[in-house]
This record gives sequence, C-alpha cells and structure tokens, in this order.
Amino acid sequence: MTIAYLNGEYLPLLEAKISPMDRGFLFGDGVYEVIPCYAGKMVAAQYHLDRLRHSLAGIQLNITPSDEDLSQVLKLLIERNGSGDLGIYLQITRGVAEKRQHAFPDHTIPTVFAYTFPINAPSTGDMETATCFTTVTRADARWARCHIKSTALLGNVLHMMEAINEGAEEVLLFNEHDLLTEAAACNVFVVKDGQIYTPELDHEKLPGVTRRLCLELIEKHTNWPALVGPVTRETVMSADEVWLSSSTKELAPVTAIDGKPVGDGTPGNYWAEAQRLFHLYRFDTP
Ligand SMILES: Cc1ncc(COP(=O)(O)O)c(C=O)c1O
Repeated sequence: MTIAYLNGEYLPLLEAKISPMDRGFLFGDGVYEVIPCYAGKMVAAQYHLDRLRHSLAGIQLNITPSDEDLSQVLKLLIERNGSGDLGIYLQITRGVAEKRQHAFPDHTIPTVFAYTFPINAPSTGDMETATCFTTVTRADARWARCHIKSTALLGNVLHMMEAINEGAEEVLLFNEHDLLTEAAACNVFVVKDGQIYTPELDHEKLPGVTRRLCLELIEKHTNWPALVGPVTRETVMSADEVWLSSSTKELAPVTAIDGKPVGDGTPGNYWAEAQRLFHLYRFDTP
C-alpha cells in the first residue's frame, strides 16, 4: 500500500483527500517535482529542492517549510514506502480559498502533497536492453513560462497525445524560429559529428535536473565538446544520435523522428557512454 504525505500527515494514498476549492485543482496554481530514489537514496535531491524554490518564486508562492523540513518529509515518506526504487512526486499548490477568483486570495495555506511510485532502475548504458523512444515533431504550442515546473501541464499533455496518436512515444518541440526547445516530458540532447548539443535554458524550457547532471558528467569525465545554444531543426534531423533526458529515464535514445531513423536507428556509442557515466555517478550528486 502506497503511503502519501498530505499537509503534515502520512496516510494511505487512496485515503488522501483535498478540497475541490484547492487552487491546484481549479487553476493548476501549483508547482511540483519528481525526484528519483534508488535503494532508498534520492538522486540530486538538492538540485530538485533548488528548482522547487525557483518554481515557487516563479508563481509568487511563499511557503514556510525549509529545505531541511521538506527533505525530512521526503526521507520519512521513502522509509514508509519501503526504501526501494521509487519516484517521489511532490506538489505544492496555493491551497484552498472559499471563492473561485483568478487573483491570489489573501490568506491561503499551501497544500503540500507527496507520494511515491515504483520505478525501474535506469539503464547501465547497455545497448541491448536500452529503452528507446520514437518521436514526432511539432511546433511548440505551450505557454511562455516553461521554466516554471507548474502542475498546469495541459499543453504538454496535448503534445504527448499528438505523439501517441501517431504511434510514437514522445514529441520534439520547435519554436517559431524552428529551434529545438524540448520534449513533452524531457529535455533533449543531440550528437552530430562528435559534437554534443543541447538548447540553452530560457522561458521555453524546463531547467531539467538530468540535463544539468548530464552536462556536469560530460564536463568532468569526457573530453567531448558540448555546445549549449540554439539547436536547429536541420541539426536534429541530420543528427547521429538524439537523447531524451529526465529524472526517471536518465538518458534515453531516440531511434526515430517523424518515421525516419536517427543514425542507424539503434542507440549510439555516445549515449552508451553518457548513460554509463550516470550509472557510475548517479549518487555522487548534491
Ligand atoms: C517539460 C519537461 N522538460 C524536461 C523535463 C526533465 O526534467 P528533469 O530532468 O528534472 O526530470 C521534464 C520532466 O518531467 C519535463 O516535464
């Protein structure tokens, strides 16, 4: 039985209840994190808490629990759920107000909710057992505040369904200049002629913790040139390798884009080495 945390209480997930007047429910007025945890140990917990603070500041929501308090809550939640391989979902909304109005209500108590879900240990970088992704491309039709990890994910959800409706598993998004932004639920890396590319961070992309760790690992353990900057559609479509990055996937190879193979349509050598670095250094994180 999954145990959840809701506003100070640990209880069975299916018994956790919030009011329909919660602004998270009515407006998507909240932010969240997903933190991976293997054998009971969180990966890059501090990076996730830092991003949570930025997201909270981005929606002007001040909450009192400190990082230490939040990490204590999460540690206890992990213990209560068996300290195995888990994803932790943590959501904070602006809370419940009596009246539905767009403007922030004066005195609400934020709703803090967390639960865990089982996850598979990520790949060791072995090409035979890699979980690969097929993708389609679309014009990025989300909002202009994608740097905030908001629970208001309908734009991402609709893009994901565009991929699924075409028999693919993810969608690569491009802005009005035909530059790569990210995917519906991942950041994106591209390898072409031995050069690693990933788009620079701005309001069009979520600052992914995995993206950050990947750039750190490449910098520390390889001599690969990594270019953080604009990535054109042409670079993506002629890439030798494309990877998706996210906390629960770490790095996942993209093997097809719009029905055409990426490289030879199998995971590439750069991916195998980068994912192997994750496997070796996953816990060497703040
Ligand atoms: C839109 C989007 N971009 C990127 C990511 C990757 O972020 P992280 O590596 O922190 O999981 C996610 C993860 O959920 C996401 O939803």
